[in-house]
Amino acid sequence: MSKHHRIPSRLRLARQWTPSPQRFAAVAAGKGDPSLLLAFDANEPHDQSGAHSDRSASYRNAITRNTEERPVVGRLLSVNVGLPRDVMWEGRTVRTAIWKEPVDGPRMVRKINIDGDDQADRAAHGGEHRAVFVYQIDSYRYWERHLARHDFTYGQFGENFTVEGLPDAEVCIGDRYAIGEAVFEVTQPRVTCFRVGIRMREPAMPSLLVAHHRPGFYLRVLQEGAVQAGDAITRMKVGEEQLSVAEIDGLLYLPNRPRRKLERALQIPALSDGWKGSFKELFEQAEQKESPEPTAWEGFQPLVVTSIEGESDTVLSFRLAPSDGTPIVRPQPGQYLALRMRPDGPDQPAVIRSYSLSSIEGEDSYRISVKLEPHGVGGEFLHRHVHEGDVIDAAAPRGSFLLRDDQRPVVLISAGIGATPVLSMLQSLARTRSAREVWWLHGARNSHQHAFASEVDQLLDSLANAHRIVAYSGPSPGDVPGRGFDTSGRLSVETIEAARIPVDADYYLCGPDAFMRAISAGLTARGVPPEQVATEIFGAAPSLAPGIVAVHRPAPHQPHSPPGAGPPVTFARSNVTVPWDPSYTSLLELAEACDVPASFSCRTGVCHYCETGLLTGDVAYNPKPLEPPPDGRVLVCCSQPSTEVTLEL
Ligand SMILES: Cc1cc2nc3c(=O)[nH]c(=O)nc-3n(C[C@H](O)[C@H](O)[C@H](O)COP(=O)(O)OP(=O)(O)OC[C@H]3O[C@@H](n4cnc5c(N)ncnc54)[C@H](O)[C@@H]3O)c2cc1C
Ligand code: FES
Repeated sequence: MSKHHRIPSRLRLARQWTPSPQRFAAVAAGKGDPSLLLAFDANEPHDQSGAHSDRSASYRNAITRNTEERPVVGRLLSVNVGLPRDVMWEGRTVRTAIWKEPVDGPRMVRKINIDGDDQADRAAHGGEHRAVFVYQIDSYRYWERHLARHDFTYGQFGENFTVEGLPDAEVCIGDRYAIGEAVFEVTQPRVTCFRVGIRMREPAMPSLLVAHHRPGFYLRVLQEGAVQAGDAITRMKVGEEQLSVAEIDGLLYLPNRPRRKLERALQIPALSDGWKGSFKELFEQAEQKESPEPTAWEGFQPLVVTSIEGESDTVLSFRLAPSDGTPIVRPQPGQYLALRMRPDGPDQPAVIRSYSLSSIEGEDSYRISVKLEPHGVGGEFLHRHVHEGDVIDAAAPRGSFLLRDDQRPVVLISAGIGATPVLSMLQSLARTRSAREVWWLHGARNSHQHAFASEVDQLLDSLANAHRIVAYSGPSPGDVPGRGFDTSGRLSVETIEAARIPVDADYYLCGPDAFMRAISAGLTARGVPPEQVATEIFGAAPSLAPGIVAVHRPAPHQPHSPPGAGPPVTFARSNVTVPWDPSYTSLLELAEACDVPASFSCRTGVCHYCETGLLTGDVAYNPKPLEPPPDGRVLVCCSQPSTEVTLEL
């Protein structure tokens, strides 16, 4: 018999390619096959005494160490890469890199990507914590049976590594694996997203992956290096807390989360920041559930106008109280009321408009302040036709633009009527005698258009550490700098720079779109973390739709198709009411047909990205969400109206 065993060709190739002991040992150990040691011995030249050379001794040690210390737990079957491309989907362009193709031979895996691979949407699918996506051949077989499909090819699920072994139920977040030359750490399960539904030609796929506990997972690259199909996967470390990918996935997306498990998840150092953030929110919600905020009321309730006061040439404040004299539930600073009005008469269609609470003071009434816009339906009705003693329907205070309880300086920046929500925040700071450094920055045209001037000054005076910058863009002849205002011109980020307002502060912005965009961009450029900048938009909030290529969208409008015969659906922020048409599969589709901005990711009731406020009415769910939203909320991607509904969108 020949003394020379046959070295597997892939191993030979690897040796020619990087003839370092580490590389050879990694590949040989990666094969997880002791016969390779024999093959290695047989091919290495021996010295006269029959001993191995120093170099080969070093190889041997490395191979032995690697194979002995790390259990082989799987095998890399295919390395798949793909670059972003545009695909047409329901009349829109989606940018996606979910199409991956298998590659031959070794590939370098780097901190952000495998060579030749990229992600279209690094915020959701890429970046350091999601450099490599892994899916298992066992799940391929499962879905082949479940979906009765036989057309799958490697990369079918958008994965970079198709692997044998490493089931989601056993792999833990924080596990470390060596594959080829590279070392990886498990960071999070797959992000559910509609793009896997497009790739699979199965829209329900995002939901199925979670419901059947087969999401797959992402890896962070701890040590860059080459990998190739056939490499064995050895486990170097089991993750802290030993929570599996399937468990962590269920913890985020499925109901009934044990608090202890949320706590454990938060303690895993390897878990990606995004998932940690979500678990933190869920943990806080779980805490709050034990001392729930009293809910004010469902749907619309009649409120009586108890007083009307002028604030400026164009702004009137209205105090509204429950018609039965019951005390109000104190709103949170920053919340708003939605009013339902019938400007054309009691039997005519209603319009719904939202107004931030400009005061949270008073035990018995809410205050809103309304600007009269030329030809504005709601503003004209309130300014010209509503009197003390009139009754208006209002939905309970709501909104997520809220003053956070923190110790950082707080900077309230507004322009025009955008002062209303930040004014209630200022009141709250004054009422609690906050020791925080408080900045009030406000832009108005001149003193005639400057609402709440003396009220704000009094509140600032009552605070220990408060500063004011009021800018008039077109001061009137009688306006004197230093009295009602401090500077001429528009508020800008230069104003903030010049005043040396701390970067490490909580910023709250409300005003016209362009104003908020400019200030937000300036704050980001100054290094203010995005989570410390909160904005309120007096209109439809921008949508978050991963992968959808941005195009200029018109303002919300009636759909182009003929009106349906179903119950009316009102998009409150967008000021649009549309009769429901059952040819839409969901309220989200109807919103999209009206260019009402709406966020989504999975479109199948898993991720809750599309969750919004349900002001009035009832919906049915088809498909059923994996976890229903809380009371007063709705998942628009998988619901249809059963009655007239009003949505917060
Ligand atoms: C969360 C939130 C909080 C808000 N808080 C406040 C607040 O505190 N105070 C406040 O005043 N507003 C607030 N708004 C805005 C408010 O809801 C209304 O959108 C706004 O007041 C305009 O409503 P409207 O019915 O008067 O005007 P609409 O009839 O909705 O008209 C909208 C705009 O189109 C213009 N327009 C309409 N018809 C014509 C026409 N024929 N020709 C030319 N132009 C036309 C109007 O001038 C107006 O600027 C808030 C909105 C949201 C979403
Ligand atoms: S988009 Fe994911 S639940 Fe609606």
